Amino acid sequence: MRLVVLGRQGSGKGTQCVLLSRYYAVPHISTGDMLRSAVKAGTPIGLKVREIIGRGALIPDDIVTDMVFNRLMEGDVRNLGFILDGFPRTVAQAEALEQMLGESGLDRAVELDVPSELTIRRLTARRVCSDCGAIYSTHKPPKFNWTCDICGGEVVQRDDDREESIRKRLALYDTETLPVVQWYEKRSLLSRITGTGSQSAVLKRIQKALTGVVP
Ligand code: AP5
Ligand code: MG
Repeated sequence: MRLVVLGRQGSGKGTQCVLLSRYYAVPHISTGDMLRSAVKAGTPIGLKVREIIGRGALIPDDIVTDMVFNRLMEGDVRNLGFILDGFPRTVAQAEALEQMLGESGLDRAVELDVPSELTIRRLTARRVCSDCGAIYSTHKPPKFNWTCDICGGEVVQRDDDREESIRKRLALYDTETLPVVQWYEKRSLLSRITGTGSQSAVLKRIQKALTGVVP
């Protein structure tokens, strides 16, 4: 499986990619998670991108593209494929990915369609594990005292989930990433999926678009 998952901030990309990755046993590659890990570890890239992420701007294409390409070269991805979450989000990134993949290309690009008023509500309620990145919300918190159910890490609000950054990120989706959606549509690779409703209902819609059947 070689899949790209697109969608507005808060549309549920991370949530659905975790479910798809478990179901199909395909590696989930989230550029946001990779960048946040680099920030946490204080690597040279992390130091460079920390402030950019916090204010909700995009990281320069060459940094993100190199990071993704290095990951795509690793053994698990070469054997099993990938589910890309948050990449590509500019046309330049989509073109670079197309070149990198060569003839075998992508199987599909899925766009999760959720109105921005709803994504703003989801993002202000979102909480994430500061260690493993597991996604929660104030409506669906971890079982004990904001401690991650999976790894025991502290569950917190993301730095860029403040209203000012959220609005900036959503505006960037319209200017930078909607052209990527159209780019895949022109290549007949796009499936547009309604991203509202329960997480399992959305998962079933994606699975139907990928395989034609609901498991
Ligand atoms: P990234 O981490 O990718 O963030 P994003 O694009 O802003 O997307 P989000 O993670 O906010 O939303 P999501 O769609 O994953 O929603 P989620 O599943 O969490 O990127 C962060 C930053 O890194 C960027 O701003 C940029 O600076 C940089 N970056 C990353 N990639 C880059 C690139 N390629 N180029 C340049 N810069 C890059 O769900 C949200 C909430 O909703 C959760 O609380 C969840 O529980 C809830 N939820 C999910 N599904 C449902 C449902 N069906 N019903 C109710 N609630 C739901
Ligand atoms: Mg995400």
